[in-house]
Amino acid sequence: MNNVEIKNAKVLIGGKFEKTAVYISDGRITFSKPKGKSDIIDATGALVLPSLFDIHTHLRCPGQEYKEDLDSVTKAAVHGGYTDISSMPNTSPPADNEALINYIKLEGAVFKRCRIHPFGTLTLGSKGERLSRMGLMKKAGAVGVTDDGKCISNGTIMMRAMEYADTHGLFIMDHAEDHDISANGVLNEGVVSEKLGLPGIPEIAETIVIKRDIEISRYLNIPMHITHVSTKRGAELILAAKKDGIKITFDVTPHHLAFTDEDCLSFDTNFKVNPPLRLDSDRTFLIDLIKKELIDAIGTDHAPHADFEKEYPFDRAPFGISSLDTAFCLLYATLTVENKIPLEKWIGLISSAPRKLLGLRPSELEEGQRANFFIFHPKNEWKVDRKTIYSKGKNTPLQGKKIKGEVLYTFNNGKMVYPF
Ligand code: NCD
Ligand code: ZN
Repeated sequence: MNNVEIKNAKVLIGGKFEKTAVYISDGRITFSKPKGKSDIIDATGALVLPSLFDIHTHLRCPGQEYKEDLDSVTKAAVHGGYTDISSMPNTSPPADNEALINYIKLEGAVFKRCRIHPFGTLTLGSKGERLSRMGLMKKAGAVGVTDDGKCISNGTIMMRAMEYADTHGLFIMDHAEDHDISANGVLNEGVVSEKLGLPGIPEIAETIVIKRDIEISRYLNIPMHITHVSTKRGAELILAAKKDGIKITFDVTPHHLAFTDEDCLSFDTNFKVNPPLRLDSDRTFLIDLIKKELIDAIGTDHAPHADFEKEYPFDRAPFGISSLDTAFCLLYATLTVENKIPLEKWIGLISSAPRKLLGLRPSELEEGQRANFFIFHPKNEWKVDRKTIYSKGKNTPLQGKKIKGEVLYTFNNGKMVYPF
């Protein structure tokens, strides 16, 4: 394989941009010209960034390949700058045993685009009743456990599941939702749900479980991660618990940083997501926490669905936003362009931070490291449409819109995995 020389780019090294050439030789990064021939990429005006890691991707495999398959999800990932994704186990059947974890690892690797780090369920079938085969799943390569998509309502089972997961060194993630409170709600409860005459999901559906989880984590002294926190109040509770020394961490999604419940006024089902888009005051509070470096990670909650499902009326369409293709661009537009937060301040939340949370090796742009990075042009504009996104799920609110900032190339272990 020829070496690669990337010239005229700004490279993010140790948290700062430097103008330097980067080379790939034997799959690794070097800053001095290697011997032999190089293929040259002129990256004038572009940025070389460490590859991204998504802690929350709905894989849909096995069982729901009509929504997404391993070919399309790995394409969407590398198109978005991701070389690593963590798969959620709410598949059909749910990934609650070692055979399915093995399947995801082996089949996902076939496409040689990105690595898949599977989560298994906390309970068998994600039914919230009996514990899953955690020890065997860990041996098969599971990085964590979650019943995401649902929340374990029984506190005793949650405690037993956490103790069991912790003995096996599995990362524990919770989707905080009181299903009795959210009931048949379809968007945030408030003025907008009133206006639309649709049942709402109040913020307390989230915060009541966050409060319980904090208490469980404190009582057992076991770390716990709350995913897709959508409310100011929920984030405040977690920050206060952290101050008390409780080992609790959380992530937020790009869409909760970019959109609000007002977007649902369009009745566009691509804005229907769980937890629901909240108020602008929630959104700006979460953005402020990113400015203050108080958020642990950003996870996409990539949730692809088929067209015919999202074509149902708002109250009957499934929850979820297809995100991997566009997450980084949306974050760049929201955090850097709109809110003036320098890229180098937040990119860690979707690259090194999730890797660290899961106890995996960091991926930095350093001499001798494996060449896992992507090249992003902040000024290029592209149109998001059915052809330009690779996920089978075309359910993004950005559909038909122009977006500034484009991923030009993604390298995984020194191999160019995007463009295809
Ligand atoms: C997810 C899905 O479709 O699997 N949907 C969503 O709106 N986030 C489930 C989930 O993560 O809660
Ligand atoms: Zn969820």
